[in-house]
Amino acid sequence: MPVPTLETERLLLRHHTPEDVRAVQTLASDRRVAATTGSIPHPYPEDGAARWWERTEHSIEAGLAYVFAMVRKADNTYLGAIGLHPELEHLHAELGYWIGVPYWGQGYTTEAAARVLQFGFEQTDWHRIYARHFAHNPASGRVMQKIGLRYEGTLRGHVLKWGEFADLVYYGLLRSDWEQGRK
Ligand SMILES: CC(C)(COP(=O)(O)OP(=O)(O)OC[C@H]1O[C@@H](n2cnc3c(N)ncnc32)[C@H](O)[C@@H]1OP(=O)(O)O)[C@@H](O)C(=O)NCCC(=O)NCCS
Repeated sequence: MPVPTLETERLLLRHHTPEDVRAVQTLASDRRVAATTGSIPHPYPEDGAARWWERTEHSIEAGLAYVFAMVRKADNTYLGAIGLHPELEHLHAELGYWIGVPYWGQGYTTEAAARVLQFGFEQTDWHRIYARHFAHNPASGRVMQKIGLRYEGTLRGHVLKWGEFADLVYYGLLRSDWEQGRK
């Protein structure tokens, strides 16, 4: 089942089309995008986006992912991807995102992430939504702060990224925090 379409002031968040997947291939090939993510390889394989989408579509169909294309409404430009990845036995989900380098620093990810967080709490029964970023990626930490996630802690040297141990910074929100924030 395709993901729903969500709307913000400047963006449509919707199911990926084959054309979007071609844009993923171009944007995700940039080393600067791969450098601060845990899962985008670099060099990006020629069929990287197609294989990513094949895996992702299966996860969406299985109810194990809600992955949205971030599309600018003004000119229908594909900007990047954002998603929620639940672990259903724990009723929690991880929020993840990336956006193409030409679109950095314009508030788009914050705008999309705020809407996806709202979707997560309003349209599911999840107890908790969390996100994590490499300590060497403070821009992502800012996005998490700006959408109201709470700092939870840092796992020191938790993952090996391109030959170096990297700290992972965790942010999260419980449903009770979300409801409190709405009052
Ligand atoms: C991290 C990323 C998603 C941010 O997207 P974006 O659309 O540029 O984010 P926004 O414009 O909504 O917000 C970025 C914020 O970070 C701030 N920022 C940017 N670079 C920064 C830095 N080096 N140090 C501190 N803050 C920084 C910006 O000033 C802005 O905050 P402000 O509104 O308070 O000024 C984008 O850079 C990206 O896709 N990077 C590669 C993939 C990635 O890292 N994904 C996240 C994995 S956890």
